[in-house]
Amino acid sequence: AIQLAGRHFLKELDFTAEEFRGLVELAAGLKAAKKAGNEVQLLRGKNIALIFEKASTRTRCAFEVAAADQGASTTYIDPAGSHIGKKESAKDTARVLGRMFDGIEFRGDAQSTVEELAAHAGVPVFNGLTADWHPTQMLADVLTMTEHTDKPLDRIVFAYLGDARYNMGNSYLVTGALLGMDVRIVGPRAYWPADDVVAVARKAAEVSGARITLTESIAEGVGGADFVATDVWVSMGEPQEVWDERIAALGPYSVTMDVLTATGNPDVRFLHCLPAFHDLGTVVGWEIHERHGLTELEVTDEVFESAHSVVFDEAENRLHTIKAVLVATLAPDLAPVPAPVA
Ligand code: CP
Ligand code: NVA
Repeated sequence: AIQLAGRHFLKELDFTAEEFRGLVELAAGLKAAKKAGNEVQLLRGKNIALIFEKASTRTRCAFEVAAADQGASTTYIDPAGSHIGKKESAKDTARVLGRMFDGIEFRGDAQSTVEELAAHAGVPVFNGLTADWHPTQMLADVLTMTEHTDKPLDRIVFAYLGDARYNMGNSYLVTGALLGMDVRIVGPRAYWPADDVVAVARKAAEVSGARITLTESIAEGVGGADFVATDVWVSMGEPQEVWDERIAALGPYSVTMDVLTATGNPDVRFLHCLPAFHDLGTVVGWEIHERHGLTELEVTDEVFESAHSVVFDEAENRLHTIKAVLVATLAPDLAPVPAPVA
């Protein structure tokens, strides 16, 4: 079994390709065990803190259900309900929570905050999304890919369209690079990942043999793709004012049926971390819908609801993959035996 006792998970490249694949395999095993009704609880008596400075449906629920399934408890700390970042520094918060909990999840804006927590907590810290990376999401996406293709990971052709200068675009690029995929970022140059992100991805690709393409051409970007993914054009914490420029710049990269057809692959699958803006008419109060009259943004409702779409498998897999992270890092049965005290 994969052995990551005591390790943090702050970004994808914290793990080797072997470790990353090991977590995905562990998740597949945990998923099968749960479905068969013979899951073994490895986390009894463990306590996990969940710090959320930003909203969440999937990530929060995945951590809570994963912990409950494994016999651990969770404490949810909502965006307003603690002193972190206000009356108390991340460093002090880490040292307090590290005395009470066996692991800490953090979702918020700054990658530096989750790194600060990890530096001082003395227990494993997990990144539940920052502006820079969404590493637990990547495990779910890779598990989903393995379920929908017979190809090994290093033969997969993966294309991401849209805003690639934020957590999802960054994470897909480095994850594809780590695992040896043919990974394409498709969108306007101004929305490609920052140079330092591309540089670490290229370095990982040298080891894995991954192919990296950044392109403004949809035809070049999606041709032959096994998987096409996108994400919202405006992320949590970004100002509403950027909508106009995002719609203008990213509109042509909306994932439509034409985009899927351009892959030339009748079995192409569509991925989205969710939440998705494919049917904004049903979502009340979205200023963008009311002002622009648009109900479909980064993906059309037709694609989202089509047989190509595997987004709810992907959402379910958040549970099994986050459980794998908890088990691999926190389970005493998998942890190394401590040296006897002299
Ligand atoms: N995909 C994802 O992280 O969803 P939540 O924001 O609902 O956690
Ligand atoms: N890029 C999105 C992902 C949500 C899971 C955001 O940061 O809001």
